[in-house]
Amino acid sequence: MSENNKKYSNEELSKMSNDELARLGTELDGVTVAYRKERFPIANDPAEKRASRKVTILLALSILFGIAFIGVYLFWPWEYKHLAEDGVWLYTIYTPLLGITAGLSITLLGAAVVAYTKSFVPEEISVQTRHDGPSEEVDRRTLVALLNDSWKTSTLGRRPVIAGLAGTGAVLAGLTIALPLGGIVKNPWKAKAMGIQGDGTLWTTGWTLVEQGEKVYLGRDTGAIAEEHDGHYSTKGVSRLIRMRPEDLDAASMETVFPLTEDMVNDGDKFDKDRDVYEEHMHSIHGPRNSVMLIRLRPEDADKAILREGQEDFHYGDYFAYSKICTHIGCPTSLYEQQTNRILCPCHQSQFDALQHGKPIFGPAARALPELSISVDEEGYMYADRNFIEPVGPAFWERRS
Ligand code: FES
Repeated sequence: MSENNKKYSNEELSKMSNDELARLGTELDGVTVAYRKERFPIANDPAEKRASRKVTILLALSILFGIAFIGVYLFWPWEYKHLAEDGVWLYTIYTPLLGITAGLSITLLGAAVVAYTKSFVPEEISVQTRHDGPSEEVDRRTLVALLNDSWKTSTLGRRPVIAGLAGTGAVLAGLTIALPLGGIVKNPWKAKAMGIQGDGTLWTTGWTLVEQGEKVYLGRDTGAIAEEHDGHYSTKGVSRLIRMRPEDLDAASMETVFPLTEDMVNDGDKFDKDRDVYEEHMHSIHGPRNSVMLIRLRPEDADKAILREGQEDFHYGDYFAYSKICTHIGCPTSLYEQQTNRILCPCHQSQFDALQHGKPIFGPAARALPELSISVDEEGYMYADRNFIEPVGPAFWERRS
């Protein structure tokens, strides 16, 4: 509450200087300035010049790193390169460079603000009593005067270089936060050419290639990586995905498999040590809706399986293949409990029954895991004999199943 009860007319207020209004403002706000000392009371103090140079350098460096961040974000080669490829080193340092340039830009800007405040803003101790209620006209006018006073005493008005650099630094620091958001704005309905990750829409996966007449095997991940030959890494002859035969899996066990098209096969009698299919295999593994759980039930459990209407022939003997993408919000449902034949999603504990066509039996998921129809060819390799009959993954508003 104001201690000064005098009412001021607009005329009186207009006649007052900024200093008088600022003093009046502190009085009206119940603020007592107990101590105030200018940092550099003597003009042309060399210490002031040194402080000014320090702040200028910090701001200039902050701007430099802000520009570097934008340059790296826009022009650095960011697309995935595997170990054996040219440019893998540049790709590897892309993310660290973004972090370092953004971090330094913001940190240096902060350091400049702190240095400026400690060097140029007067030292002051003020005491204020709190009051309630809306502000009166006089309070508003005096507040403006106080802000003007702060601007004046900050000495920023007569330091155009520092003010300009600080403004530019603040804009660039803001851009380092705002700019990356542009990269995550995507159109989820925009279809591209169909490939091993589908066509980019939510309805398709690598298994959709079956609809185009391609043979798609169930590929198991060997975990193989680029090997060093003569001091160089090479992925020639490295097969990350290999075809599966039913006998590769024991009863009551599970294997994660990925779509492996015929032209990507490099194993068994088709193995060629000079072929390089590693990158295509990695694209299949990285396909967001590609992973499938191949489960081999015990024969006595398989006899009890309840098959979903319309999907009676989707399994191959004791082998059942379910999408690994949880129908709740899309985590990998990676835990298969062999005693109960339950599939558990670790994210929010949804459970699905492998004996009941992947039906949810606990937790927030409301839809069964889509089942992939599988078979075995004349060479004994497992393949998908049709695409999923429903979209894979969590619900989205256009889906009808
Ligand atoms: S994502 Fe699987 S339970 Fe939530």
